Amino acid sequence: MSKISTESYKGVRDFYPEEKFIQKHLFAAMRKTVESFGYVEYDASVLEPAELYRAKSGEEIVNEQTYTFTDRGDREVTLRPEMTPTVARMVASRQHDLTFPLRWYSIPNLFRYEKPQRGRLREHWQLNVDMFGASGISADIELITVGYTLMKNLGATDTDFIIKVNSRTLMTDLFALFSLDDDQSHKTSKLLDRKNKISESDFQTALNDIMGDNWKDFERLITSQERLMEKLEHTDSAKEIITLLESLIRQGIKNVEFDPTIMRGFDYYTGIVFEFFDTSPENNRSLFGGGRYDDLLDMFGARKMPTVGFGMGDVTAQDFLQTHNLLPAYQSSTDLFICLLASEYEAHADDLAKTLRTKGLNVAVNYSYKKIGDQIKVADKQKVPYIIAIGENEATSNTYTLKKLDTGEETRGDVDTIVSTIEAKK
Ligand code: HAM
Repeated sequence: MSKISTESYKGVRDFYPEEKFIQKHLFAAMRKTVESFGYVEYDASVLEPAELYRAKSGEEIVNEQTYTFTDRGDREVTLRPEMTPTVARMVASRQHDLTFPLRWYSIPNLFRYEKPQRGRLREHWQLNVDMFGASGISADIELITVGYTLMKNLGATDTDFIIKVNSRTLMTDLFALFSLDDDQSHKTSKLLDRKNKISESDFQTALNDIMGDNWKDFERLITSQERLMEKLEHTDSAKEIITLLESLIRQGIKNVEFDPTIMRGFDYYTGIVFEFFDTSPENNRSLFGGGRYDDLLDMFGARKMPTVGFGMGDVTAQDFLQTHNLLPAYQSSTDLFICLLASEYEAHADDLAKTLRTKGLNVAVNYSYKKIGDQIKVADKQKVPYIIAIGENEATSNTYTLKKLDTGEETRGDVDTIVSTIEAKK
């Protein structure tokens, strides 16, 4: 019989306890931060009708990156590649019952058929934070502030990352200045999105292909933020982006800059777009991003719903934490391991474990009856911080020696002493 491989499917991860610990740390920081701004959690199924993504997500994601299959009832089903269409569907479905502005978040797992590489896998988890029903620039400012606060709560300093902002409306104004039609505008947007991934000459050739001789003037503008802003200063979109930058800086968010090459891949963005980048040369990549999308609910025939949001992936976030030495050391969620010197103390150990659990501790009993040294090794290897060994003395006196494995420190006492000692060190 041929053996089945123990490797996971290409591009997805198994989470052994050490990896799950890191993910839980990340999710806890995400939840704490967004809830502190008043966002509440929602969730949905990973399966969606395929048509949900056709209208607005963009060609690349639908044609090349979705996992789509036909179910037994002949329906086309997609494993969600992003959460935005799902949450838009949910809001559209209850639009008359919900009250706005609505602050919602979720941490779904998403599937994209990508070439697995650093920062890009086929399954990732993504914090989605969105404010529905908010048309003013204050909402855009709040979402960027939420992202900034999350980075700080994860231990980042202002020099570790930079926030780049742009505006799709500003770019539409720029395209109008060059009299680009819809097709040329769409192609230019996609090209700008790729600008930092291709060579300068490839960029120039492609720009020339799209707009002919004007390409030089266009390039001159997008490579100088001052020149671009000067040219468009009369437009509302330029005024809006200046207000956004000034407000962020006033709030103490200074690692922010305007960058006209930030376009974001999805077609549904309509206004301000932003992207957070790692500044370290080792991991110089986009960490997460989002923006304003005011028209997405239209596809459900729903009332217009101005919305801003962003998505932060767990893979890029973990690479960031690793690069900047911000990953916490693994510790088991088990507080205490009870070792038995002989089988006759099992009933006593079980009673003790039960009492300690009711007092809030996580306790495991070792029923192996191996040598005490071996039992301690198991606790140590599994990173359980404390042990107690039960022998004749402990079973008759109800007094125990609690040992902290990393320091060797010992505390002698009753059940309450054990609880207070462990709780004090948590
Ligand atoms: P996105 O830029 O496609 O936007 O993804 C957001 C983030 O998810 C990325 O910056 C990255 O951290 C992570 N990510 C995306 N694809 C992968 C992958 N294959 N492997 C690992 N991480 C990945 C969106 O998905 C928008 N729906 C976000 C949004 C929410 N916009 C408004 N609200």
